[in-house]
Amino acid sequence: MSASVITVEKRENASQNLIIEPAASLSLQGRIRVPGDKSISHRALMLGAIAEGETQISGLLLGEDPRSTASCFQAMGAEISELNTELVRVKGIGLGNLQEPVDVLDAGNSGTTIRLMLGLLASHAGRFFTVTGDSSLRSRPMSRVIKPLQEMGSQIWGRKGNTLAPLAVQGKSLKPIHYNSPIASAQVKSCILLAGLTTEGKTIVTEPSLSRDHSERMLRAFGANLVTDHQTNSVTITGPTQLYGQTVIVPGDISSAAFWLVAGAIVPDSELVIENVGVNPTRTGILEALAMMGADIQQENQREVAGEPVADLRVRSSRLKSCTISGDIIPRLIDEIPILAVAAVFAEGTTIIQDAAELRVKESDRIAVTAQQLNKMGAKVTELPDGMEITGGTFLSGAEVDSHTDHRIAMSLAIASLKASGQTIIQRAEAAAVSYPEFFSTLQQVCGDS
Ligand code: S3P
Repeated sequence: MSASVITVEKRENASQNLIIEPAASLSLQGRIRVPGDKSISHRALMLGAIAEGETQISGLLLGEDPRSTASCFQAMGAEISELNTELVRVKGIGLGNLQEPVDVLDAGNSGTTIRLMLGLLASHAGRFFTVTGDSSLRSRPMSRVIKPLQEMGSQIWGRKGNTLAPLAVQGKSLKPIHYNSPIASAQVKSCILLAGLTTEGKTIVTEPSLSRDHSERMLRAFGANLVTDHQTNSVTITGPTQLYGQTVIVPGDISSAAFWLVAGAIVPDSELVIENVGVNPTRTGILEALAMMGADIQQENQREVAGEPVADLRVRSSRLKSCTISGDIIPRLIDEIPILAVAAVFAEGTTIIQDAAELRVKESDRIAVTAQQLNKMGAKVTELPDGMEITGGTFLSGAEVDSHTDHRIAMSLAIASLKASGQTIIQRAEAAAVSYPEFFSTLQQVCGDS
C-alpha cells in the first residue's frame, strides 16, 4: 500500500505550492483539534482592549487575521501579551480611551478587523485614524459599514467615493439610529453595536435574517446593556455602556472543522473525530446542509463553554446526494460554501446554491474562483449570479490550481484533491495561514503521512 504524497514547496516571495497525490487506498483516520474560532478570537481581543481591567483569553486562533486585530489595538494603547493558545492577557484601556495611533492601522486580509474596528474609531470623538489592508481587503466594499456610521454622524473618507480602503476617520460623538441592514452580516451588525457602546441612547440594528451572534453574546458577558429580539432579528444596545474584562475560552472553529467534515464524508472508509468545536446555532448551517446530503456526522459530548455551545464531531464516510441550499440558512454557512461545493462535486445529482451573492465580495470572488478552480480538475460547476449549480458524480483529475490568496479556497482545493486521480498542485497555498496555520500538518496526520 503506497502512502499519499503531501508536500509543501516554498516559492519566491514567500508563496508556497501544496502538492497532493493521494494513494489509491487513502482513508482518513484520527482524533484532531482545529484552531480557535476566528470570529470569537477577534472579538475577545477587541472587547478586551476596550474593557476596564484584564481579559484572559485561552484557545485564541494564532492565524494572521487575529494577529492583525491585536497589532491594531496595540497601536491604540491596549497592552496585549504575546499571542499563544494557552493564555493571552489583554489589559483594557476602558471605554472611549483608544489612543490616536501614530501610523496607519493595518488590518491585513481581515474584513472583520477593519469593519468592526471602524465602529469604534468613528465613535472616538476628537481622534483621527487611518486604516488600510492588503490588496484583497482594499477591494472589498466598506460602504456597508460607512453608510450607517455616517447616519450616526461619523466622518469617514476613502477611495472611490468613500467606499474603499485606505480610509481616514475623524472620530465624533455619534447619535443613535435604528439601522435596517439590507444584508445579513455580522460584521455590519457588530460595527454598529460597537459604535453604540459610547453613543448616548438606544442604537438598534435589524437584519433580514440572523447572522452569527458572537458579538451579542460576548458584549453581554462583558457587561453591555444589550437586548435581542429574536422575532424581528433586532439587537438594541443602550449606551454609554462600560465593559469589564472577562475570561474567554475560544472553542475550535466550525469553519475550519468543515474541511475535515467534508473530507471524512467523501474519502471512503474514513472516520474522524474533531474535538472541541463551537456549535453555536448561528454557525451550524454546515451541519444541516451536510445532513441533507446524507453525511454521517454525530455531535458528541455536547457542553457549554464560556457562553458558547461546544461539541466533538464524529464523521464517517457515506454516499452523498445533492441538495438545494438557499434562504435563511445562507448566513449560517456563508464561509463554508467553497467546501460545500466540493462535497456537492462528489454527491449524486445536481446541487443548487442560491441567495449567496455575498460570496462575490469575500477574500476573493468565491463563486467565480470556486467554479474556475474545481472545473480545472474536471468538476461541473456553473456560476449563478448569486450561487452555483454543481453537477455531482464527475471524476476529478489532479491539476494545477490557484487559491487566489483566499484561505478557504486553498483548503477546499486541498480536500478536493484527496479524491482526484494523480497530482494536484495548489498555488499560493500559504493563504491557509489566515485562519488555519496548522492545516497542512493536520492534513498529513489524517492521511497517515506524518
Ligand atoms: C464574520 C462575519 C462574516 C464571515 C466572516 C467573519 C465575523 O462576514 O464571512 O468570515 O466574524 O463577523 P459578513 O458579516 O460580511 O457576512
